[in-house]
Amino acid sequence: MTTNTVAPADVQQTGKPILEVVDVTKTYGEGHTAVTAIAAASLSVAEGQFVSLLGPSGSGKTTLISMIGGLLTPTSGTIRLGDQVVSDMSKKELTNLRAERVGFVFQSSNLVPFLTARENLLYVASLPKKHSRKAAAKRADELLGELGLSDRANNVPEKLSGGERQRVAIGRALMNDPDLILVDEPTAALDTALGRQVVQLLAREVKQRGKTGIMVTHDLRMVEYTDQVFEILDGHLTKSDGTTLLDGH
Ligand SMILES: Nc1ncnc2c1ncn2[C@@H]1O[C@H](COP(=O)(O)OP(=O)(O)OP(=O)(O)O)[C@@H](O)[C@H]1O
Ligand SMILES: [Mg+2]
Repeated sequence: MTTNTVAPADVQQTGKPILEVVDVTKTYGEGHTAVTAIAAASLSVAEGQFVSLLGPSGSGKTTLISMIGGLLTPTSGTIRLGDQVVSDMSKKELTNLRAERVGFVFQSSNLVPFLTARENLLYVASLPKKHSRKAAAKRADELLGELGLSDRANNVPEKLSGGERQRVAIGRALMNDPDLILVDEPTAALDTALGRQVVQLLAREVKQRGKTGIMVTHDLRMVEYTDQVFEILDGHLTKSDGTTLLDGH
């Protein structure tokens, strides 16, 4: 097994490491049915960095980003976000962390079915009361515009295509200005041109606002928009230097 931790020198060039995953393992279940979905994974991401995560189905991608975003607790190991130790947090602390610092775009878009696209964005913004109503409406309209959804803003999810739903979910994840953006397969339901546009928007959001982003993707063409590439195979995470990327994906 090879695990690959980013050398501190790498990180210093681009800013302080905001996210650190150290020797994280996740085992589902117990005894002879136990599945180790992530085995001793380590990675480090600086502020302003956008990272891609590649790997075949079942390799552990969703498990890893779910732990990073505080949706799942590791079996062992440490996850740090800034000065907060995510892996030691109580359920209540994790709920606050997710509401205040993490924007999650799930593999399925998980939109609220009876709200329009615009209301799906505004609904999250009202939760932590970070924004005034007017500022939230302005931000929602800006994001819908940047995501090419202005003319779909008043549609409920069932009146949207898969790609449009995915873009609404991205808009929703960005509404609260999270420090950490975690995106599970943003381009699966998008054609290439739109996929590029959406990934560029995510990259820009990370760079310009000094956030940290991790994107799970099967699409090698999207890797060019990211600063570091990690690969997972059977729960083993390695940092890619680009040479092995075309094998097995
Ligand atoms: N809640 C769970 N209970 C038990 N096993 C699980 C659970 N969630 C995932 N697994 C197993 O853990 C492994 C990793 O799953 P994970 O969903 O992280 O993979 P993935 O890389 O995101 O796959 P995909 O590309 O298909 O989304 C798989 O073997 C999966 O069957
Ligand atoms: Mg997955």
